[in-house]
Amino acid sequence: MSDSVPDPAAGEAGHPDDQQRLPVTADVVEGEAVPALNDAERQAADVLFGDRLRQAVKYVEHLCTTGISHGLLGPREVPRIWGRHVLNCAVLGPELPAGGTVADVGSGAGLPGLALALVRDDVEFTLIEPMERRVEWLDTVVRDVGISNVRVIRARAEEVGDEVLADVVTARAVSALKKLIPMTFPLLDDESELLFLKGRSAGAEIEAAQKVLRRFRLNPPEIQLLGEEILEEPTTVVRIRRQ
Ligand SMILES: C[S@@+](CC[C@H](N)C(=O)[O-])C[C@H]1O[C@@H](n2cnc3c(N)ncnc32)[C@H](O)[C@@H]1O
Repeated sequence: MSDSVPDPAAGEAGHPDDQQRLPVTADVVEGEAVPALNDAERQAADVLFGDRLRQAVKYVEHLCTTGISHGLLGPREVPRIWGRHVLNCAVLGPELPAGGTVADVGSGAGLPGLALALVRDDVEFTLIEPMERRVEWLDTVVRDVGISNVRVIRARAEEVGDEVLADVVTARAVSALKKLIPMTFPLLDDESELLFLKGRSAGAEIEAAQKVLRRFRLNPPEIQLLGEEILEEPTTVVRIRRQ
């Protein structure tokens, strides 16, 4: 994939669209606190964020500066911030229903919620996070990056079912499936679905959640790999439909 991406810095010629879009990342990243993207990441970022790439870079800049000083991200994550974190989350974007609503539970540093809100500006996002300092940071970032399709609420997910109902509920690194299901169930209506970013433990977590899945009358979970064509490491998602 990287072979086909012209390097704007080296003055290589490419498709006219590439020439317009690819330098945006290179220009904005250079000289700031954002690690440079390799060619494959740059192309994936361009495909996913399109004309919101500048905003995505600004979000990443926050992650790599105030995100670290506020304890939301470990400094060792900086070199892999694009591939392992932001792009890894952003690949869920195309899975979201047009004009729909998403509740992102335990957003922490805005992953996946803020990354997805930048990919899908037709979708309304509610970020649910109980920790005050994290909520303050998220509010600051939403304002500073200029993301208009996000609200942040300070709460535990299981407490806000009367206030938040979503077409899709997302979560990453919040809890094992058997706890995550009861926690997020109040946010679902009859046609909602759960999209949880998981790692290699996905299969074992599904096994351990069988009783809970039956109790909440949920369909059997599916494990999907997303972003195989554009990411060096695809994202593992556990998808559970109510109907
Ligand atoms: C390990 S962090 C993961 C943050 C982010 N999703 C990520 O992938 O980087 C887990 C987050 O879940 C939040 N959390 C824990 N229990 C929660 C609950 N019951 N409802 C909502 N958020 C919760 C924590 O405050 C924390 O910010």
